[in-house]
Amino acid sequence: MKLKQFFEKHRGALLWTLFFTTVVVVFLLGLLAASINERRAEIATLFNNKKVEIKGIEARNEIWGENYPREFETWKKTEETGFKSKHNGNIEQDVLEMRPDMVVLWAGYAFSMDYSAPRGHYHAIEDVRRTLRTGSPMTDTEGPQPATCWSCKSPDVPRMMAEIGIAGFYSKKWGAMGPEIVNTIGCADCHNPENMNVNISRPALIEAFLRIGKDVEKATIQDLRTLACAQCHVEYYFKGDEKYLTFPWDKGMTVETIEQYYDSIGFSDWTHKLSRAPMLKAQHPDYELFLLGPHAQRGLSCADCHMPYKTDGAIKYSDHHLVSPLMNIDRTCLTCHRDTPEKLTGYVTDYQDKVLEIRDRVEKELVKAHIGAKYAWDNGANEKQMEPVLKLLRAAQWRWDFAVASHGASFHAPVETQRIMAHSLDKSYQAQLEVQKVLASLGVKGEVPTPDISTKAKAQEYIGLDMKTLREKKEEFKSVMVPKWIEKAKAGKKLI
Ligand code: HEC
Ligand code: HEC
Ligand code: HEC
Ligand code: HEC
Repeated sequence: MKLKQFFEKHRGALLWTLFFTTVVVVFLLGLLAASINERRAEIATLFNNKKVEIKGIEARNEIWGENYPREFETWKKTEETGFKSKHNGNIEQDVLEMRPDMVVLWAGYAFSMDYSAPRGHYHAIEDVRRTLRTGSPMTDTEGPQPATCWSCKSPDVPRMMAEIGIAGFYSKKWGAMGPEIVNTIGCADCHNPENMNVNISRPALIEAFLRIGKDVEKATIQDLRTLACAQCHVEYYFKGDEKYLTFPWDKGMTVETIEQYYDSIGFSDWTHKLSRAPMLKAQHPDYELFLLGPHAQRGLSCADCHMPYKTDGAIKYSDHHLVSPLMNIDRTCLTCHRDTPEKLTGYVTDYQDKVLEIRDRVEKELVKAHIGAKYAWDNGANEKQMEPVLKLLRAAQWRWDFAVASHGASFHAPVETQRIMAHSLDKSYQAQLEVQKVLASLGVKGEVPTPDISTKAKAQEYIGLDMKTLREKKEEFKSVMVPKWIEKAKAGKKLI
């Protein structure tokens, strides 16, 4: 009643407030558009004053640096590893050490060996070489991974694709491309040197868009400021024996429609070692989830927060130091929001804390479900009995991974991320109930035994990994193969 009276009394004022707020929002978005157009003129000047002529796919970032020193110097800062926000930042963090349950969730899959939080683009090559996930291939034909694993690490990837064909590239082994893929994520991944426009260099994005009737060529500048990132920060899988990099968007970009796509082609990334469920591994669906959040729906692009403008005298340019926007609140959030930096950081960490609260619950329950399923198998369960358990486990873990693997999602799309987590928790419990039914029908009484998985090492031992051998082989690979690759690349002038 009070509220109603208040509203009636202040109706006029409230409507005016609404009106002015709308005007301000429209004005701000207008400013954004105007400033982007003004930027085109500046870019043209810059382009006309370039020092070296860059032709074709130039993967060596240093060459571009001669023409565009500001962008190059800020790009180089992605090497820094000193920033830590409450839940992210650019420092290295061993996630399995922090959350050993994840070792069990990924049992039988390479992620159970090694998984660290992402760092800056500068480290992409170094990190993919040294992770245990890529194994220790000492020849061009040894596995375990295909060359597809290089796809989101380097501008040498489009360079090689132009040389040996797209399918030709994917169907090679990862080790075979070692001496070629040597420059980290850089200019040619996102730019056409002929005009410095933002350019989509990765066929997987172009192909996925074509299949759903969209044309990357028709994207606006504002779209490209997001699509440049959507070349890599997306969900993907390796299709068929060719290991052809494919984005699973044919039925839509949500967690459910992507799952439908995978189900319809009978795809699984691996079979879980304990529960034997046919699992899906979510990669990093940053783009797909971002689209469902409030900022994307108001027309913002990734670059608006992750590549804010910087000034150098009269020159305004895009900061190429891609990092957490919380590192530069004055140039990111504060360009649009009138709030204190503390409050703005608080909005972000609040959303994150709430999602992570549920995430921690989900991980515990998922682990119980996998271990319960193993116990049922150990007690003589058959495929038919286990079918509902395995189906639920696949669906529950897919949802958990989708929401967690996108490190920014809890801020980019808080409501959607919570929704996905809630379904994951629900399905994890359902899976446990189904396990109980199977155990009851087998006449197994008592609790499912709980192993000690309180540290990364203990969890890895429990799932049967021989970490010592894996590490020794990796050390040999790093001391023998990597220097050879680098030497060969330098001799061929592929690396400066
Ligand atoms: C991950 C993608 C990405 C990478 C890598 C990248 N850029 Fe950019 N670059 C962008 C985006 C997005 C813009 C903003 C374009 C716009 O708003 O029109 C931009 C803008 C520019 C501009 C126009 C002027 C400005 O600063 O806004 C130049 C010049 C430029 N980049 C140079 C480089 C150079 C040199 C490198 C390598 C050292 C590089 N870029 C690497 C995405 C990238
Ligand atoms: C060619 C593939 C590729 C493109 C294009 C790309 N990224 Fe990345 N990005 C990566 C990889 C790989 C990592 C992880 C690197 C590592 O940990 O070694 C990463 C890491 C990041 C991080 C984490 C940095 C940190 O400090 O922890 C942010 C933020 C990020 N990218 C934002 C973006 C944005 C925004 C765009 C578009 C403007 C973009 N990326 C374009 C591949 C890409
Ligand atoms: C409205 C601002 C905003 C926009 C737009 C935005 N992000 Fe973010 N992003 C954030 C914030 C805030 C975080 C959380 C940073 C933290 O916790 O330190 C984040 C986190 C991330 C991270 C994890 C960083 C880390 O340190 O591990 C990645 C990767 C990322 N964003 C990529 C993207 C991509 C790709 C897009 C576009 C599809 C995008 N972001 C659009 C604000 C934004
Ligand atoms: C380019 C402008 C722009 C930037 C940069 C920006 N925002 Fe926003 N933000 C918006 C707009 C527009 C809305 C929607 C406002 C509305 O409809 O009332 C919004 C909405 C929000 C909301 C409310 C979300 C909801 O659930 O509706 C929060 C919280 C927020 N922003 C925080 C941030 C933070 C934190 C950053 C920096 C990491 C940031 N924003 C960067 C423009 C921006």
